[in-house]
Amino acid sequence: MRDYKIAPSILSADFARLGEEVTSVLASGADIVHFDVMDNHYVPNLTIGPLVCEALRKHGVKADIDVHLMVKPVDRIIPDFAKAGATYITFHPEGTEHIDRSLQLVRDSGCKSGLVFNPATPLDHLKYVMDKVDMILLMSVNPGFGGQSFIRSSLDKLREARKMIDASGRPIRLEIDGGVKVDNIREIAEAGADTFVAGSAIFSAGKAGDPNRYNSVVKAM
Ligand code: DX5
Ligand code: ZN
Repeated sequence: MRDYKIAPSILSADFARLGEEVTSVLASGADIVHFDVMDNHYVPNLTIGPLVCEALRKHGVKADIDVHLMVKPVDRIIPDFAKAGATYITFHPEGTEHIDRSLQLVRDSGCKSGLVFNPATPLDHLKYVMDKVDMILLMSVNPGFGGQSFIRSSLDKLREARKMIDASGRPIRLEIDGGVKVDNIREIAEAGADTFVAGSAIFSAGKAGDPNRYNSVVKAM
């Protein structure tokens, strides 16, 4: 049995009450905070930066924070996120000229590193850097927005990535991001994922202001 983890994407949380939202979702059983960083350049949307990550740590968030960089270039911002309390920092190969160097920079900054693959980006780069990644993140939507539908070709890609991880013998997490819901998470797990990002599926649940509103959806995942 794999060590499965649920990583709520705070992109769909109520940003005016972010600290409480994160506290509630972790109290309901979620494992990792998925933190989507968008720069209005690599993707057509603009979100949050290291200040907000630091604010969550100051608010008392102890769980792993999984910073998903949808920015270009990535190197400048990596040390800032490390200082702000990131646990994982993942980026897209298209976001850097030097993938190996940027992965090393994440590790040298004291964080766990990961590469992110868009739905139509092949896994080719991976075989050269398997020893430098702690996480592989497969996008099952095109990055930029929450609430999109799961792209089914990601299931084959998950199987491919799972084989590579098993062959490496390293404890690399296999994360899936986009369109993950209660009714497809089982199929996604069977394809090989062990870490599940879910934004709209979790944060649209229950009644605003209820601290227990996320309990049933997180438990159902
Ligand atoms: C999209 C982000 C996702 C997004 C997922 O670019 O990387 O993390 O928030 O949202 P849902 O779960 O609603 O597809
Ligand atoms: Zn994400």
